[in-house]
Parts: sequence; structure tokens; C-alpha cells
Amino acid sequence: MSNSHSSNSYTSNLYSPDIINQAKQLLSKMTLDEKLGQLSQISSAGAHIPHDLADAIRQGRVSSVINEVDLATNNELQRLAVEETRLGIPLLIGRDVIHGFKTIFPIPLGQAATWSPEIVEKGSRIAGEESATVGVNWTFAPMIDIARDPRWGRIAESLGEDPYLCSVLCAAMVKGFQTNDLSSPGSIASCAKHFAGYGASESGRDYNTTNIPENELRNVYLPPFHQAAKAGVASFMASFSDLNGVPATGNQWLLKQVLRDEWNYQGLVVSDWESIKELQVHGLSASEKDSAYLAATAGVDMEMASSCYIDNMAALIAENQIEETEVDQMVLNILQMKFALGLFENAFTEPSALPELLNAKNLEAAKEAAQKSCVLLQNKSRHDDSPVLPINRGATNRIAVIGPMAHDGYEQLGTWVFDGDEKHSVTCLDGLIALAGKSVEIEFEPVFSTSRDRNIQNFEKALELTNNVDVAILYLGEESILSGEAHCRSTIDLPGAQVELIEHLSQSNTPIVLVVLAGRPLTLQPILDKVDSILYAWHPGTMGGVAIAELLFGDASPSGKLPVSFPRVVGQIPIYYAQKNSGRPPTEESFVFIDDVPVRAAQTSLGMAATHLDTHFSPLYPFGYGLSYAEFEYSHVNISQHEIKLGCAFVVTVTVENKSDVDAEEIVQLYVRDLVGSVTRPVKELKGFKRLLVKANSSVDVAFEMHTDDLAFYDIRNQLNVETGDFLLGVGANSSLELNVPFKLVN
Ligand code: NOJ
Repeated sequence: MSNSHSSNSYTSNLYSPDIINQAKQLLSKMTLDEKLGQLSQISSAGAHIPHDLADAIRQGRVSSVINEVDLATNNELQRLAVEETRLGIPLLIGRDVIHGFKTIFPIPLGQAATWSPEIVEKGSRIAGEESATVGVNWTFAPMIDIARDPRWGRIAESLGEDPYLCSVLCAAMVKGFQTNDLSSPGSIASCAKHFAGYGASESGRDYNTTNIPENELRNVYLPPFHQAAKAGVASFMASFSDLNGVPATGNQWLLKQVLRDEWNYQGLVVSDWESIKELQVHGLSASEKDSAYLAATAGVDMEMASSCYIDNMAALIAENQIEETEVDQMVLNILQMKFALGLFENAFTEPSALPELLNAKNLEAAKEAAQKSCVLLQNKSRHDDSPVLPINRGATNRIAVIGPMAHDGYEQLGTWVFDGDEKHSVTCLDGLIALAGKSVEIEFEPVFSTSRDRNIQNFEKALELTNNVDVAILYLGEESILSGEAHCRSTIDLPGAQVELIEHLSQSNTPIVLVVLAGRPLTLQPILDKVDSILYAWHPGTMGGVAIAELLFGDASPSGKLPVSFPRVVGQIPIYYAQKNSGRPPTEESFVFIDDVPVRAAQTSLGMAATHLDTHFSPLYPFGYGLSYAEFEYSHVNISQHEIKLGCAFVVTVTVENKSDVDAEEIVQLYVRDLVGSVTRPVKELKGFKRLLVKANSSVDVAFEMHTDDLAFYDIRNQLNVETGDFLLGVGANSSLELNVPFKLVN
């Protein structure tokens, strides 16, 4: 093993020299007060402009307004800024447009389950265009925090557990929002958040401390952010969270050394909501003035919501604690984005120049995204193992639709929906009725008022109904409010009395299909043998009902794959596929279940491996997992050279055969293991994937074009490096595959 090739070089050219010059020229005309005003983002008052806000804008004390979505108000805010201030600097209008504006797409975790950069890009393009119709020009997405703890509510907003999948999809999201030209109609600036490590909050409790060793931070948590910078993301948001003792918002190492010096990032860095002020609550500073000092010297350009900068920066400069030139750089970062957005040419919004909200094309894209996000987890009869889905239309006369998530247009939208409206939702029940046609009788029994309801009074009615139909479809899960920011759970089972309901209905011989609508992985182990099929639909958005119905009836095959491992029990968390091997890796032989432990067994008799006594060491469903109505077989996994020189390209090929009579899309996944490293390496790492259509009874040859640089990692010196030595790879349908193709990297 030797250290060799380094691929750490990258020059950012976020903005053209022309834009940089315009920003510099404007800066040279600004007074100190005008500069300080540019550092301030304030909250809207909601569809009206109070006098103090109007006055603050006129005085040049406001750079950006967050959360205003009324078109006339936004145009008036811009008018005040452009026409009634000395320099006429337009405003950034920010909004959390996370998975759609009016047309709501699946939650980001659901979008990640599509493993499709095309779908993700289309979704954010539409979200951007729709929000631009009311004057929004800056969104706080993508959220690219690696999330390995499903208790954490914000896992819903994430792209899952894997740095590679997250990086690919994050670049697609940035492109969708920003296009190739930020100033073009419908393009809005995006924001890579929350920099960095927020997803590792201890015990999955939001805002909690994170402790992440630098090597792990660089190999796992930072790569999606680096990718966002390379993809030209216009802004970064510093996280609320404490990172190894220094909250990200005041963390010079993170915001200066890594982001600016190593990555050469030239965009705007915004704080999170009051996260500068909260530096004092963290115990990093003793006053708001201190907080302003720490955040500014760490590299936060704009302050969201609180006023530490505007209240204290002049004094900090007067006392020579902060140089005015430092403020100049902060202001430049902000002005450049305003120029790039074309706001100096036209700050006003004319919605007729943009596509209509909720138009047919947008709804179709939302349906496609929802459909491709659904993951089929299980599909066999609990009586004879035969597949229960798709529902055989010809042989089905009566269907029972059961559960609180079946006909609730609001709850299917998911977390972070400020602007979507449930009245546009096609519910699961509506979608099913529309597709089933008149000949099928559908009866609906919600049983519960919400997913948390514990009232069992309708259980008998539901059982009777189940007994009298050809198939019962249960739409259960979690309401939107149970995931998202600050909405964490210590247990992640189906809430309320939903498990009891499933147990009760399983007394019936009728096939039971469970459709789960939820914002996170849930622990489904207790109900697996009580239902026949399980379709995991996340919170699927406006068109969820149509998408799910089409899958249930087999108009399309489920094709989503899990972007995150599903634990059997909460005590397994964190559980993720790219774990380290440890010195005592678990094996089937070493695993002893608690009930089989002999009384007074010798203390050294239990395998001595990394296992729990009371649950298997594997996840319930591995990362990358998802079934199809088709049956795929993988063969002929080959690599172009078994010995590859550093700096060279190579190709991995595989044949994927669809042995069934249905056309279906499959997500083909390539994993690699680096056997020996200067730091220990994960047992598997995703290095490539492709979603492709494989026609019935035919096969497709797939090729992955690789380069030895794809095997780089941060080594013992925390340098990005490719190390020579032995590797294994495998290509297959999910992360539980065996890696059995050896290859070697040589000098
Ligand atoms: C706090 C959240 O952490 C962040 O993601 C969001 O963009 C801001 N609030 C603004 O709403």
C-alpha cells in the first residue's frame, strides 16, 4: 500500500469576471451603513408591509426578506428597495421551497428513493418555476445532511444515508433550481444546507450536539457539500449544530479553511434562523456582539432573522476587532448573487412570463416522481407465498380501503409544505376509485382519525369489511407533523393503535396490502407476517394517490429503492450499509439469539462478535433494497482490467436479465470495497448506479465507466488520495450483495 494520486484540485468559477466587477463597483460606492444593511435578512410580516419594515428597506438596512409569498407584496418590497433607496439594490426573497411550491413532489427522502437525477432535477425545476411566479428568488434547498438516524425528524428532508447517492442527487437538485443561467426566468438560487454534520445529532434529537471525527466528516458528511460547490450552488447555510465543540455558525475551520480555502467556494454563506444569536445559547459567546464577531470571522456573510450583525458590526469595526475589508468581502458575496440573478436588470415579477401553477405537465411530473419513489418491500401471500400485487383487475370485485392515511390530502403532502394546498391532492382513495372503474366496489373505513389515534372502536367494523372483500388495502403510517424539523421520535414504530389494527385484521383470510405513508423508515418487523404486501410510499405529495393506484393495479411496476437502511428495532440505530468491518465482524455462525443462550453459559461462548443478543445484526431491509413485479437476474459481472494503474479509467460491465413477462425499471448498483487502507475503509461503498428499463423476457448489458479517482478517500493525513492495493467489487440489486470480483490498483 502506498499513498499516491491526489485529486483534490478544483477551481471555482461561480461568477463571471463581469459579475464580480459589477459587484465591486457597486461596493465602492457604498457607505458603511449601506454595507451592513446588506448583511441582514429579515422575516416578512405576511402579505403586508408594516411601516418599520418599509422604513428599514428605505434606509438600506435590509438585504433579504424571508418567507414572503404574496406577489404584490414582493413586488412592492422590491420597489421600495430599488426606487426608494440611494443605491437601488434589489432584495433577495428567500423561502423554503423544499419539495415543491404548489405542485408538491414526494418528500426529499422519497425523491432519493427514485435514484433518478433526472426526476429530481425536473422536480426542483418545477418547484423553482412555481415559486418564482410570486417573486421568490432564493430557496433553502437542497438539504444534503447525511442522515443515518431515522429517529431524526429531518431525515424526511434528506437524501438519505449515502454520500455518493446524496452527491449525485444534490447536483441534480441544484441544476433544477438554478439551471445553467441564474438570471433566466424561473431560475432561483439554491442553498446547500446545513453545513455541516447536522444529520449526526446525538440520539436523533434535532439541534443536538454532533461529534464527528475529522476523517469521518471528510469521508461521509462533507462530500455532498463539496459536490454542491462544484455544481455551482449559489449559497451555503451554516448549521445550527455544535460540531466537535464549535457550533458550525462560528466554526472557522469549517467555513474558512474547508469551504473557502480548500474548496475555493465563492458564493454566499447565510446563517440558519437566529443561529448567530444562538452562539450565545450554545455557550460559545458571552453576548450578541461576541456572536456577531465569531460568526463574521468564521465566514457567515448574511444573518438570518436575528440582528447581531446590524446591531454590533459598526462597533466591532470601530474597535478594530473586525476590519472593514472583511465586511467588504461579505457584502461582495451577497451582491454577486444579486447580480447573477439578474435582479439589477429586473427585480419585479411578472408571473405571466412563467408556466402556470399546477399545470398538467407539472402534475404529471409529480406523479412520475411519486410512482418511482415507492418501494415494494414485500409481496407474497401469508398463506401460500404467491405474489398478491399487482391486484388482478379481472378477479377483483370488491376492495376495502382502510386507514387514516387513505383519504387525507393534507397528510400525504409531508413536512415542509408551506405553500401547497391539500385541495389539489389526489388522495389514495380517489386515485384508486378513478383507476378501478365502475365494476369494482370500493368501501372505505378510516378506523382512526389520525395516525396517532388509539381508539379501537371501529376494529370490528374494519374486520367485517375485510372479510367481505377480495383484497384489503391498509393506508397507514405517520402524519406529516411527526417528521421534519424538531419532530423527532424515540421510537419509530407505526404510531397509535395501527399495529393492533393490523393484528386484528390479520385474522381474516383476505389478502392484505399495506401501503405506508411516512416521513422516515419505520420499524415494521412486528407486522411483516400479518400482511401480504408492503408498499412504502413515503409522503408522496399532490399526486400520490394516482401514483400508488397505478402501482397497485400493475399499470407500472414499483421501482424505487431504499435510500436508507431500515432497522429491525430502534436499538440498532445507527445502522447503515457502509459500516466498518470492526475487528470482530458479525457472522451467522457467531450470532446467538437471546432465547438460545444457555443458562450460565461460559462468558466467552457467544461468538465474541459485533452483534446484539436480541436482534439480528443485519437491517430489516438494506440500503438499495426494493422489489419489482418483474424478476431480475444479474450475471457476467466483469471488470476491464484486474490490475489498474493509478490515474487510469476502467469499465465494469454486467448483464441484467428480466425473466418475467412485465416490462420494468431496475436500479443497478455498483459497490466497491477497498480491502486495506491507511484508515479503515467501509465494507461496501456505492460507486455507481443506473436506473434502466429492462423489457420483459430480455436482457440489457450495462457498463459503468470508472476511473481510479473514483476510489479516492481522505486518508490518515486527511488528504484526498487514492491508495494502491486490493479491492473487491460487485454489481447487483441492493447493498446486501456479495462483492466477488477482485481487482488491484497499482502504481
Ligand atoms: C430553520 C431550518 O433549519 C432551515 O433549514 C430553514 O431553511 C430555515 N429555518 C428557514 O426557514
